[in-house]
Amino acid sequence: MEITSETKTIALIGHPTIHSRSPQMHNAALRKLGLPYVYLAYDIEPSNLKKAIAGMKALQFTGWNVTIPHKVAIIDELDELDESAKAIGAVNTVVNRNQKWVGYNTDGLGYLQSLQEEMKINLKGKKVVILGAGGAARAVGYTLAIAGVKKITIANRTMSKAERLSEHLAQWTETETVSLDSCKQAIESAALLVNTTSVGMHPHVEALPIHPNWLHKDCMVSDLIYIPRETALLHAAKQVGAKVHNGMGMLVHQAAIAFELWLNHKAPIALMKEVLDHSLYESKA
Ligand code: ATR
Repeated sequence: MEITSETKTIALIGHPTIHSRSPQMHNAALRKLGLPYVYLAYDIEPSNLKKAIAGMKALQFTGWNVTIPHKVAIIDELDELDESAKAIGAVNTVVNRNQKWVGYNTDGLGYLQSLQEEMKINLKGKKVVILGAGGAARAVGYTLAIAGVKKITIANRTMSKAERLSEHLAQWTETETVSLDSCKQAIESAALLVNTTSVGMHPHVEALPIHPNWLHKDCMVSDLIYIPRETALLHAAKQVGAKVHNGMGMLVHQAAIAFELWLNHKAPIALMKEVLDHSLYESKA
């Protein structure tokens, strides 16, 4: 696509942004559809956030993605939040809606779409165990709760954080908290276990957040980690015959939902997935 005086800008802001694959995914999608936009990544120090946002507004960006560490701080700079951003308390996508800057959170829905696409799981009435109680657990927990799960058990290293998240999610479903080393019983009756901690992420690929003997074939295991493609947790789950799901699909779907919010145009998901897969795994081979 030729860049002309009519080309419009979409961006990612974060700190750092160097490892992000969003520019590859979005620019490939924009090129395929022949849309006159570019997607750029900007590494913005927290102390420069306000100035950067003012600049993007003045330059009439179509919108932007927000990643760590700005997902919460951005809220003060926006005019409105949609329901999911409000409930999750964090924004990963901003859209210019006739000069109103509106914040969304597509992480939770992206996760749910990926889970449903790959696992064909019916969540209604099911019990779920979430490992971790940070930002990702908040997005996933809220989305699973409103999708109709019966109970969410939050297992976290720091109990106070687990309790805070559990109280928050109790607005939408039954919740409980346990420590990471005592979630065996909750896993026994769960249909889905989701790891939102960073345990097992590259380069510490041997690490497991829980004892692998607690896994069983009737509990699907989903790990938000995508490097490596198969974490030690997913490997152990496969060994006992459980279905597994990694974090790559969430990355693609959260991007596709953002794309559709900015452009009102269906995202070419298969292409975005192919580009991400290549950039994460094949280019390193
Ligand atoms: P994210 O936005 O990815 O969720 P986060 O908000 O920093 O990131 O949360 C990281 C989660 O991983 C937390 O639940 C954290 O546990 P604590 O609340 O006890 O810090 C969990 N985590 C990170 N490293 C861990 C480790 N080595 N063992 C167990 N849990 C870990």
